Order: sequence, then C-alpha cells, then structure tokens
Amino acid sequence: MRRPFKAVKVSEHVHWVGAIDWGLRDFHGYSTERGSTYNAYLVLADKPTLIDTVKAPFADELLARVASVIDPASIEYIVSNHAEMDHSGSLPRVIEAVRPKKVFASTVGARVLAEHLDLGLEVQPVKDGERISLGNMELQALEARMLHWPDSMFTHLAADRVLFSSDTFGMHLASTERFVDELTGWRYQAAKYFANILLPYAALVPKQLAKLEPAGLGIDIIAPDHGPVWRHDRHEILGLYAAWAEQKPTMKAVVFYGTMWQSTAAMARAIVEGLVAGGATAKLFPMDSSHRSDIVTELLDAGALLVGSPTLNNNMLPSVADVMTYLKGLKPKNLVGTAFGSYGWSGEAVGQLRDILAEMKVEPAGEGIKVKHVPGQEDLERCFNLGLQVAEKLKEVAVGV
Ligand code: FEO
Repeated sequence: MRRPFKAVKVSEHVHWVGAIDWGLRDFHGYSTERGSTYNAYLVLADKPTLIDTVKAPFADELLARVASVIDPASIEYIVSNHAEMDHSGSLPRVIEAVRPKKVFASTVGARVLAEHLDLGLEVQPVKDGERISLGNMELQALEARMLHWPDSMFTHLAADRVLFSSDTFGMHLASTERFVDELTGWRYQAAKYFANILLPYAALVPKQLAKLEPAGLGIDIIAPDHGPVWRHDRHEILGLYAAWAEQKPTMKAVVFYGTMWQSTAAMARAIVEGLVAGGATAKLFPMDSSHRSDIVTELLDAGALLVGSPTLNNNMLPSVADVMTYLKGLKPKNLVGTAFGSYGWSGEAVGQLRDILAEMKVEPAGEGIKVKHVPGQEDLERCFNLGLQVAEKLKEVAVGV
C-alpha cells in the first residue's frame, strides 16, 4: 500500500518532509507531554537536496513524504545540520534508498556522524560560511557550535530566505499544523525547549543571533528541526531567545519541595505567603505532582529559587535530589535563593541543598530554615519571614523594580 504521508510546502522551493512523533513523552529527562516532530526539509533545486533526516523508526514516513513531491532517488545531496540520532538515526536507511551524490555536515559533524553511524560513504565537511552550490541556488553553512552539540550547524537558503536552524528555535510539540501562526499556546513550549535544551549554552545565543544579522542574510522563514516553522512570528522568537539568554532576574520566585508527612509542605506554603506579602510572585511545585522540566522552564524568567526537603536517611529526598542534579547541569543564572525543610533527628538535607545552591552560584538569601518534626506557629512565622526576606532581596536585584 502506498503510504499516505504528504509533504507540506514551506516556501517556493522548500517542502517539510519530516515525521510526527505523537507518543514521545520523555526526551532525556525533559517531559514532552505534547510529543514532538523530527523535521526534515526537501529543497527543490537543480540538485534536489534533503536537509536533515528523522529518528530511525520514522524513515519510511520521511521517504513517503518525499515521494509525494519527487522520486526520492532523485535527491542528489543530503545536508546533516546535526548528528544527534533524532535527526540522523535514519540517515543510513535514507542513504541506501536515495543513493545521494554527496552528504554534507559541519567539520565537527562529519566526524561525529562517522562516530555514530555506518554510512558507507565519506561525509563532506563544510566550513563556517562556506556555500554549497545546488545548481540554481546556494546553501550557506553557519556553524552553531554548542547550540547544542559541537557539530550543530544552521544552513541558509538565500533564494527563499529560509534559515534551517537545527535544534535552535525548536519545540517538542506534535501537531497537524506546520506553522507557528496556525497554533495557540506555543510560548510555553518554546520556553520549555530553550530551558531544557539550550540553557547551559545561553551565553552563546547572542553571538549566534548576531551572526544572522549581516546584510544579505535575509530570513523570512525559520525552519527548525523540531515543532512548527516560524514565518510571521519569526521576529518574536528571535526577541524571546535574546531575552531568555540574558535571564534577567525578576520579582518571581520558584519554590519546589519534597515532603514526607506535610511538614516541609507547610513550610513551603508559608514561605510563598511571605514572598507574595513582600511583593514577589511565586510558583510552587510539590515534587509528588511536578516535573523537573517545568521547574527549569519557570526559572527562565525568575529571580529566586527556594528548595525544600526533609531529611531521609541523612540525605535529601530522592525527588528533590533528582531536580537539583538536573538544574545543576542546566546552569540557570542570576538567581538568589535558599533552602528549607523539616527533620527528625539528624537534619542534613537543608545543609546539603545550600551546598548545591552555592555550587550553582545561587546567591544566598538567608541561612534557610530547619524545623524539627512538625512546624508550629512560630516556625511558620519564621518561614513567612524568610519569604519576606527573599522578596526584599529580589527588590535589590530584579530588573524594572
Ligand atoms: Fe533534536 Fe540535538 O537533537
């Protein structure tokens, strides 16, 4: 049976030929509750060219979408903007089906692809700024090192003013719509993607954005490797990336906690009341019903991080340690914060949390609070006052206060 998958036209010479993964729920610890897409693009030039491929199990979907436009065997070039397996996993199968004349990748990408896959051919490396002639049009390579892998590369098709941006500007969002302007509710998904994928490399984002500005590099469409394509909203996402990269502190606090018998939960709620009374806003995450990837998303535009855990067997709760490990790797910056929690007899968790916050360069806002067993009225007042104290600290550092 002919597979029913169709390509979607993106611009005069470009079609989306990717795959939709409706069932993806986890991407390396990042909860992808709305699934994802693996985007690949077909450029109808004199030398028909495929930009990126898809995750291995979706190779047939990609080939069927290509076949809805041209015979896949007529593809002459494949450009791999990124070697991670969600974009290259099907490359061996696609090469076998298409028999392209050349496969291109960045200089690092050519090596990384060879380290991942048996392609049966030499990948041709392209340098930053180098142009690949497709006959009647050109693709220009723009290295995007560490956004988010060393091999990452953008390519620009001047003829259609399309930027193929690899993972950058992506979203994990499965949908039947192919363009951002056909969707609502995308902002949270775009922020979640930035926070969970690009945050450790945020300092590189302004440099990459500056690279896109030179005269001549016109961009009407941004075509990322995940989620919908940007056309009317392209300036908005460029602005959002510039802002997220800065992580300017605001009067918003993120509070998360684990709890065993609701003592640390009661402390967290009292702290939040204090934060609000002090003029801050707060997002509270109980770890029995929250996900680490939503916490880091909320930190993107926050100014404070407060973490609570009781002590269990001389340690913090595993659910809290999980988030701290995740946050340490993602390196959020420009935060003040502290720790709190109840304990029974040894009470190490608060100190352990303070140590990790210090490692993360979170500026201490108070010593934090430990409460034995169940917080009484006086303890809850101390928690409320801690919230007030953090709000005061935020007033010193937050922008626009
Ligand atoms: Fe979507 Fe870095 O892979």
